[in-house]
Amino acid sequence: MPIRAWYPTFIYCEPLQKSGLARLNAELIDECHRLREFDTAGRKWSAKNYPDGYTSYASMNELHRFSSTFADLEKKLTRHVRAFSRTLDMDLRGRTIRLSDIWVNIMPPTAAHSLHLHPLSFISGTYYVATPKGCSGLKFEDPRLSKFMAAPPKLPGARRENQIHVTYPAEAGNVILFESWLRHEVAANRVDEERISVSFNFNWA
Ligand code: NI
Repeated sequence: MPIRAWYPTFIYCEPLQKSGLARLNAELIDECHRLREFDTAGRKWSAKNYPDGYTSYASMNELHRFSSTFADLEKKLTRHVRAFSRTLDMDLRGRTIRLSDIWVNIMPPTAAHSLHLHPLSFISGTYYVATPKGCSGLKFEDPRLSKFMAAPPKLPGARRENQIHVTYPAEAGNVILFESWLRHEVAANRVDEERISVSFNFNWA
């Protein structure tokens, strides 16, 4: 082949487990709501930094240490992160990977999450707990965007791998993983019900 693709950007998307997702998510929805009630500091932080939404990102971001539901989620997520890091050919022989932070995001109508990345970690991701029909997906940006300089725009029907954004639909029960440097955002929620997700970071040592 005269032309080959190099330096791909991988994104992982799989159901958390084969069965029992509805039950687990019902438990998580309750727990996320209780957390919002309890977490005064988080509500205060969210009012300022996450308009109309609630996130425990800045207040309670080690939920795996305090809740058996989240400790169980940690175990399951770790298996997915191992599988993903194998696909990325990361040399983790004799190393450990560790979930460092895990937090809750509740997005009522109009709440949005602007473009960001996840510093101080190598693989990050989101697990979807409640995803009402029509809620926003997770939109990723081509990491080379700042280097395109004089490149012409893409054709309207460009092949998916040549487009500069890709949006993964948010689907309850799915885990999405990406390398932590990959910028992403969630557009404003435009449906009446709450969109609930759990985000997390992994590091290695
Ligand atoms: Ni994020």
